[in-house]
Amino acid sequence: MILVTGATGTVGSEVVTQLLAAGKQVRAMTRNPSKAKFDSRVDVVKGDFESPESLQRAVSGVERVFSLTFGPRIGIHERNLSVEAKKAGVRHIVKLSALGGDEEVRNAIRKWHDEGEQAIRETGIPLTVVRPGAFMSNALHWRETIRSQGKVFSNYGEGKLPPVHPRDIAAVVVRALASEGHEGKEYSVTGPEALTVGEQVRILSNAIGRTIEYVPVTDEMARKGMESAGMPVFLIDALLPFAEFIRRGKAGHVHRTVETVTGRAAFTFSDWARENATAFR
Ligand SMILES: NC(=O)c1ccc[n+]([C@@H]2O[C@H](COP(=O)([O-])OP(=O)(O)OC[C@H]3O[C@@H](n4cnc5c(N)ncnc54)[C@H](OP(=O)(O)O)[C@@H]3O)[C@@H](O)[C@H]2O)c1
Repeated sequence: MILVTGATGTVGSEVVTQLLAAGKQVRAMTRNPSKAKFDSRVDVVKGDFESPESLQRAVSGVERVFSLTFGPRIGIHERNLSVEAKKAGVRHIVKLSALGGDEEVRNAIRKWHDEGEQAIRETGIPLTVVRPGAFMSNALHWRETIRSQGKVFSNYGEGKLPPVHPRDIAAVVVRALASEGHEGKEYSVTGPEALTVGEQVRILSNAIGRTIEYVPVTDEMARKGMESAGMPVFLIDALLPFAEFIRRGKAGHVHRTVETVTGRAAFTFSDWARENATAFR
């Protein structure tokens, strides 16, 4: 049995789908089982990273765990999870982390993940760390301004990023969970091509069939935009200082991990844009 946490989210839901396709037994954790929609083959468990009792039930009888959580309490969450996993005899954890910069510049999100990683390592359970860069699905945050104004506002300037399809992140995770030999490995995962926001916007324009304008903005304007979109302050404070790293052209490195781990090419941003075009209309 494999426990998938974050199972109702962008990456976790794909992990569930792909594990089922690989013929694995899956237990999916959510705080609200009554709201969640899963395939009938999935064993659904109510669990919360804040509640060790619920995690104890979630890991009972489980061999491997996919750990996905977020925010400044990642270290506490993954300590709670891995301590219960150790007691239950779990033999492998695959953790979703984040690329989050380089040796000189680490963003706050990566630092939260490093605390989670450390907490898992302290239990001695063999660990695989999957570190994705920016998700292609972050473009969904542009929906409102595309629909209402035909514009995308960003403080990334002309900096390039290689956004990754969430399905590809899940594919790497599923290889690590469903085949042998991934314990102790760290996988940096990006999409196949580094793109500026302007280039992503042109690709989206083609997929949607509507002209969209890219409007570069300052960090202060970006903060106001994220606040009015309802993004939590801890996330805004973590993301803003990182824009400078992107603008300086330091976030453009492409990792070929999807290809080497899964044996097939990574999806492009054009692939993602075509699949998701209706979300922007
Ligand atoms: N977006 C990016 O560009 C990017 C880049 C690199 C790394 N990441 C990392 O990706 C992760 C986010 O992945 P995602 O976008 O797939 O997530 P998501 O779609 O936002 O979903 C979040 C999931 O976490 C679960 N969750 C939230 N609080 C919980 C709690 N207290 N206990 C148990 N479960 C809880 C939710 O489940 P329920 O509500 O059903 O309980 C949901 O399934 C974060 O770790 C982030 O740092 C993101």
